[in-house]
Amino acid sequence: MCGIVGYVGAKQAQDVVVEGLRRLEYRGYDSAGVALVADGRVQVAKRAGKLANLDKILAEKPLPASQLGIGHTRWATHGAPTDRNAHPHTDCSGRIAVVHNGIIENFATLRAGLEDRGHTLVSDTDTEAVAHLLEEVLRDGATTLTAAMRVVCQQLHGAFTLVVVDAQQPDAVVAARRNSPLVVGRGEGENFVASDVAAFIQHTREAIELGQDQVVTITATEVSVTDFAGDPVELREFHVDWDASAAEKGGYEWFMLKEIDEQPQAVSDTLLGRFSPSGQLQLDEMRLSNGELREIDKVIVIACGTAFYAGMVAKYAIEHWTRIPCEVELASEFRYRDPVLDRSTLVVAISQSGETMDTLMAIRHARQQRSRVLAICNTNGSTIPRESDAVIYTHAGPEVAVAGTKTFLAQIVACYLLGLYLAQVRGTKYGDEVAATVRELRKIPAAIARLLAEAEPVRELARSLVGARSVLFVGRHVGFPVALEGALKLKELAYIHAEGFAAGELKHGPIALIDEGVPVFVVVPPQGRDMVHDKVVSNIQEIRARGARTIVLAEDGDDDVVPYADDLIRLPKVPTLLQPLVSTVPLQIFACELATRLGRDVDQPRNLAKSVTVE
Ligand code: F6R
Repeated sequence: MCGIVGYVGAKQAQDVVVEGLRRLEYRGYDSAGVALVADGRVQVAKRAGKLANLDKILAEKPLPASQLGIGHTRWATHGAPTDRNAHPHTDCSGRIAVVHNGIIENFATLRAGLEDRGHTLVSDTDTEAVAHLLEEVLRDGATTLTAAMRVVCQQLHGAFTLVVVDAQQPDAVVAARRNSPLVVGRGEGENFVASDVAAFIQHTREAIELGQDQVVTITATEVSVTDFAGDPVELREFHVDWDASAAEKGGYEWFMLKEIDEQPQAVSDTLLGRFSPSGQLQLDEMRLSNGELREIDKVIVIACGTAFYAGMVAKYAIEHWTRIPCEVELASEFRYRDPVLDRSTLVVAISQSGETMDTLMAIRHARQQRSRVLAICNTNGSTIPRESDAVIYTHAGPEVAVAGTKTFLAQIVACYLLGLYLAQVRGTKYGDEVAATVRELRKIPAAIARLLAEAEPVRELARSLVGARSVLFVGRHVGFPVALEGALKLKELAYIHAEGFAAGELKHGPIALIDEGVPVFVVVPPQGRDMVHDKVVSNIQEIRARGARTIVLAEDGDDDVVPYADDLIRLPKVPTLLQPLVSTVPLQIFACELATRLGRDVDQPRNLAKSVTVE
């Protein structure tokens, strides 16, 4: 949601800011704008729709040259996605320009007060109030924009990243954050602020995390950070090890296709460096002692969307390997049901972005109840790992397509690592058993590579189903979350009705949906898990008897399914618990191809945002 960029330096600010916005497009947005300080004035250009619309007005009516600017891609919350509501917003005098991510919850009161005091607000947004509040505080004697920002932030409730410029202070960009993402990029003679590092990675890989309730001022040569009271805070610097080219399309039609193809690498990178020469698992970012991990008597995994399905897979592995009860809960529901938590509960928060507001609020609730929190995250410097007691990073590299693919597999791998680590520490698995599973995990990248190389029949299948109005997905055991993920990918990319079910639940209701020719994907467990395998083979027969077109995903050599499969997708043989790492891949390819054939915007599906920073 909302992408933000701020720049001060020797380059043309408009180019740097618009390019930064382009690199943040994946976050999801419906309007875009920039503001530069030039000729003693704030100059604004903004448009509803995609960046191409902004490019067009900038080409028709270029803004003056400037070395300082801010930009924004807006995902509408307050007010429709129109030109008028697009950011930046300015004050009455046109001196201040503001961009904002988040929701200012007390904006109605603030707005009413401003209007009573004679301000004219022209948009329907919560953001515009901030420009007018800054105008007042500066008029009332604040000596710098930074000082005014501190005063205004203390009046705001809710979540915000704010980035502002002042025509009367043409050398500085000032930003602030509460419950919403912001990082600083530190360059040579230039500095940046942005929602995430993708916006400036082509200029610098040196970054600074901003803590909660902090204000940062950047000039071309300096970065200074204080809290809202004005007290200086220690800078938390980090180096971004992503390669700038990792965030480029590299000749693929979609980022999503590239990211699907990067899955063998994402899995092997997530496994990398986790084992001692003797094969013992070691998780460097695990800031919980073995003693603390031995005290745990319950694990609760919290996450949203695709990450939630990774959490469902984690439950099977963690309970099987550690015998610790494990619950999985949607982060958006977690704190509202008053969960039973204490010091011996380990809460595992899974989040690709590390900024999902529902997940962030859930971990804050867990920490208030004194539970320990471990984050599984793909984004260095983001809020969720920063607020957690421990973190396992998924080294999947930047994921630009809105729909999660490689990060889903990397999250599952990280969950396995956590499960095996807990089993090792608590002695519920022998060293050689842990090592045997690790050996199997190391074979997964090659198995995925094979699926990618053999994907053409899956694409053909997708092309044959462009007319489908509804597609169902079923699975059992770890195949159940895979079915849910397959359905989610198809819904979000192709806008087709799709549902995932536990295979055993079909007969309790959903089987009524099955009609002549309805495509039903069935994820069949490996034969090694014989009881579940046989049950799913029976389920396929039930489905087929009702006229469905059965599309069966089954491992090599599983001939039991052949008589009942209208279409058969072969999976490499892997252990039962690891099967999601392979069975998910054809479902991603299927959804991507079908959506492409339907003319959808695969990388940026309608209404969706990559980083969901509101509750
Ligand atoms: C779907 C998808 C979303 C995210 C969810 C959580 O393809 O990507 O469902 O998984 O919004 O996001 P993170 O992992 O950033 O917390």
